[in-house]
Amino acid sequence: MTVQVIASAPGKVTLFGEHAIVYGEPAIVTAISRRLYVKTTLRSDKNLKISAMDLKIPGIVLTFISDTGELTLETDYGRVVSAVSYIKKAVELTANYVGEMKGANIEVRSTMPVGAGLGTSAAVAVATVASYAYALGYELSQREIAKLGHRTELEVQGAASPMDTSIATYGGTLYIKPRTGEPIIEHLKLKNEHPIVIGYVERKSTTKELVAKVKRLKRKREEIISTIIRLIGKVTEEAKIALLKGNVVDVGELMNINHGLLDALGVSTKELNDLVYAARQAGALGSKLTGAGGGGCMIALAPGRIAEVSTAISIIGGAPMDAQISAKGVTVEIQK
Ligand code: MEV
Repeated sequence: MTVQVIASAPGKVTLFGEHAIVYGEPAIVTAISRRLYVKTTLRSDKNLKISAMDLKIPGIVLTFISDTGELTLETDYGRVVSAVSYIKKAVELTANYVGEMKGANIEVRSTMPVGAGLGTSAAVAVATVASYAYALGYELSQREIAKLGHRTELEVQGAASPMDTSIATYGGTLYIKPRTGEPIIEHLKLKNEHPIVIGYVERKSTTKELVAKVKRLKRKREEIISTIIRLIGKVTEEAKIALLKGNVVDVGELMNINHGLLDALGVSTKELNDLVYAARQAGALGSKLTGAGGGGCMIALAPGRIAEVSTAISIIGGAPMDAQISAKGVTVEIQK
């Protein structure tokens, strides 16, 4: 009987604190109810075959092991991602970690767009680690999965904060504050539902370029930019309190302030700003860009106004999707 192991990991949106976290300020990140699924079926040979139809590689199956070639994928969102290299690296690291290597068919499915800033690379890394390890007979702890997932991102990208792989593993809503050594990670128990709409537009710049842009501006205008960064940290601390109290009006207001500060850092675009304002006009309590900016995603907190905000976003050319926040972290399921 062929056993199939399906692991799934959530995407994420950063609610508060992107960019400022690069300079030591806290951020709040939440798992969303859009998931990425990795199915592993062990093979009797040593080949690793990967198919990832939803990642815009229709029908392509790759054979690795002896071949170290890497494939880059052009997505609908104008971004080049190398999802296959995350899968390959996650399998290698997991095999080395558990000390066992078997060939496998790995199939990836995604219910969220790739390369749009929703943390799909972290979700791929985390779900592959969990799925492949489980197929080999090892039930790794969340801490082990998070660590291997983070190492996968580090080795593929060269640099990565543990933010995305932590949220893909643990799920929920996390408050993360960098510090020397391990970051402070707190699970936030939200008191109220916070229904959000995510809107996305084509991304024009990469995360790396945007982080570098802020760095340049900070070098040029140290006092002003450091003050903005500290203010974003303060907004995040107040948002933590509002989220814990279930005060959605304050959460929305703080999202608006956070967006204004991100715009001042130069990471928003006209298209993102248009979506952010259209969402507010349609009744969102708050809206902001999420992630690195330069296009990509924005989020709107829209209790009772999901349909109106979604329509407003699509009318001006954005692609809306609704999502629940604080979704489950990585899960594993076996099919016989
Ligand atoms: C990107 O999703 C978030 C940034 O803060 C970069 C980072 O934290 O590594 C812009």
